[in-house]
Amino acid sequence: MSTQPPGARISGSGRALGARCVSNDELAAELGSSDDWIVARTGIRTRYFIEPGQSNTSLALEASRAALADAQRNASELDAIVFATLSPDMVFPGNGVLLQEALGVAPIPALDVRNQCSGFLYALSVARAWIVSGTYRRVLVVGSEVHSTGLDMSPRGRAVSILFGDGAGAVVVEAVDSHVQEGGALEPVRLGADGSGARLLFCDRPGAAHHPSITCDDIEAGRHFAHMEGRQVFRRAVELLSQEVAALIARHSLDPKRAVLVAHQSNRRINELVATRTNIPEDRVLHTIEQWGNTTAGSIPMALDLARRERRIAPGDPVIMAAFGSGLTWGTTLMWG
Ligand code: UT7
Repeated sequence: MSTQPPGARISGSGRALGARCVSNDELAAELGSSDDWIVARTGIRTRYFIEPGQSNTSLALEASRAALADAQRNASELDAIVFATLSPDMVFPGNGVLLQEALGVAPIPALDVRNQCSGFLYALSVARAWIVSGTYRRVLVVGSEVHSTGLDMSPRGRAVSILFGDGAGAVVVEAVDSHVQEGGALEPVRLGADGSGARLLFCDRPGAAHHPSITCDDIEAGRHFAHMEGRQVFRRAVELLSQEVAALIARHSLDPKRAVLVAHQSNRRINELVATRTNIPEDRVLHTIEQWGNTTAGSIPMALDLARRERRIAPGDPVIMAAFGSGLTWGTTLMWG
């Protein structure tokens, strides 16, 4: 047996979407927006909303089953679950235990991560650390969101509500002998946060800082909906993601022309600007926002799953994952194709 600590690799991925495809035109009249504005400012043409019978947990379950099948593993072989979401089915407990029950894998631990758009990369960093430290050998990492039940569908909410869709992505992360070169190997995840920007993108009702945590007045005023300072978030996203992706490219001495960029999908223009500033060719950048909208913690594992299944990642390709969002929080990592 090797005395080296194990490495970690992604051995399978899966995704799921809300059942109903919703076009810009369907939202435009209600929100006081237009297909032209949405496409020009965000790149989004459609998003998917859940139908009755679906939930955050059911999307996560579908994505997890697909990831396990892709990894050729049974759920009973999992050692732990890490679940990232900002839209759990209940205030508490978190969705990790709900997914654990749905998969029938009690009593393995289930951890919930609350880092919004960066949630998947924060979750992945935990899974990788558990594996590299020898704590667990096989961890399911999920990013899953249901936004459609919490959007302000009036003109007041249009800047936020046009962006979001429902979807889930999941990956199986496994221990691998560190001297063996296998596809999907993960380098350490580099994370960051800046709490001074917490009120640039937030939702504070219901919130325990308030007595009571939510009132009818709050609902009347729409305080239970997300609030975003869009331009400021956009500017910070471009700056920080460009800086962090450039730092990752330098750290690993990568040729950016060979890299594949699988970034969080919050606005097509953000990812185009980041790619231009870091010399990653446009045809090596994954764009899923056009079809799926912004699915927050789900967007990176969903895009990664698409890239793997459509064979847009060749063996040995450096795949850069990068996220930025509410918190403010961010993260980057490198996976070898
Ligand atoms: O995933 C988490 C991280 N989130 C992000 O990274 C999102 C970052 N921000 C953005 O993507 C963009 O800021 C938005 C897409 C949200 C907004 O685009 P923008 O180009 O920054 O527009 P803006 O907020 O500066 O608004 C420009 C104009 C305003 O009208 P006036 O004041 O110039 O007359 C808005 O009222 O566009 C108006 N507007 C809209 N018009 C039609 C804002 N939202 C809409 C809308 N439809 N949906």
